[in-house]
Amino acid sequence: RPRSGLRSYRSAQHTPQNRKPFEPSLSKPRTFFYRPKWKHGHSTSAGHTELDQPAQDSPILLFDSGVGGLTVLGELRDLLPQAPVIYAADMAGLPYGAKSEAEIAARVAGLLGRMAERYQPRLICIACNTASTIALGMVRDVLETPIVGTVPAIKPAAKMTRTGVIGLLGTEATMRQAYVDELEREFVGDCTLLRYGANNLVALGEAKLRGESVDVDDVARAAAGLVLQNHGERLDTVILACTHFPLLEDELRQAFGEGVAFIHGAEGIARRIVSLTDGQDFARSAPDFAVGTGELADFQRLAPAFARYGIDDLRAF
Ligand code: DGL
Repeated sequence: RPRSGLRSYRSAQHTPQNRKPFEPSLSKPRTFFYRPKWKHGHSTSAGHTELDQPAQDSPILLFDSGVGGLTVLGELRDLLPQAPVIYAADMAGLPYGAKSEAEIAARVAGLLGRMAERYQPRLICIACNTASTIALGMVRDVLETPIVGTVPAIKPAAKMTRTGVIGLLGTEATMRQAYVDELEREFVGDCTLLRYGANNLVALGEAKLRGESVDVDDVARAAAGLVLQNHGERLDTVILACTHFPLLEDELRQAFGEGVAFIHGAEGIARRIVSLTDGQDFARSAPDFAVGTGELADFQRLAPAFARYGIDDLRAF
């Protein structure tokens, strides 16, 4: 016998007056499940209205699957040392680069929704190319919090190259995104863009920040697929399109040798955060902290690395 709740649900759905023609809904949702709580009654020297002002201690939330976002945090500390920061790492989901689009989108949107409600950030930075190229649009649709994403630095690389051959190094998931195809179509022009998904570099970056020694040969092997392509020998500019990769910049320089320049988006992302928070007041009411999904003991092995970025408190999310 069906339970009464189920039966009444069924009968409500099937009465003729409730039956509606099927309408696919791909438009932006009209209601949001999260609205930031702005503080009222304050105006700023930059001429912003009081409605623009978040609470002074409202943090900037930096999100990545692991420690890659620390490359963005480093730049942000230089530009906005007074900004309270929460660093969020989806350690239980790492690595994103080997996952499907659906899994990444669901994890990122779900986690950021919960984090936005819990921490009331003034701005969220998805400091992860993989999550940004897949889920940025979806997250912007459901959250009203301003979101800064991470975009492969294809445009500046096309201006830098002298040989006309540019390498794009990211995760496998990032390499296959339409977002990257669009950037290539728009900015690469007459140059040649070689792509390579180097998932193993993510694990090497994480290991380095846990204090393990990282062998240049392992880094070279993980990235070799980029140069072993047609025109690879003429490569002179490599875009690090994964926030983990600048953590290995010294090893990558040695692996690629002289004559290859590297470019990544961390500084540009930090500048974007500065411009979007222009005129806002910042004041810490408590020390910055980091949250990680998964086992806290594993996350805490990264404590010395976080301490170098001014974060001494690592918690489970
Ligand atoms: N840091 C992430 C990025 O920028 C990827 C790491 C991962 O594969 O989880 O793409």
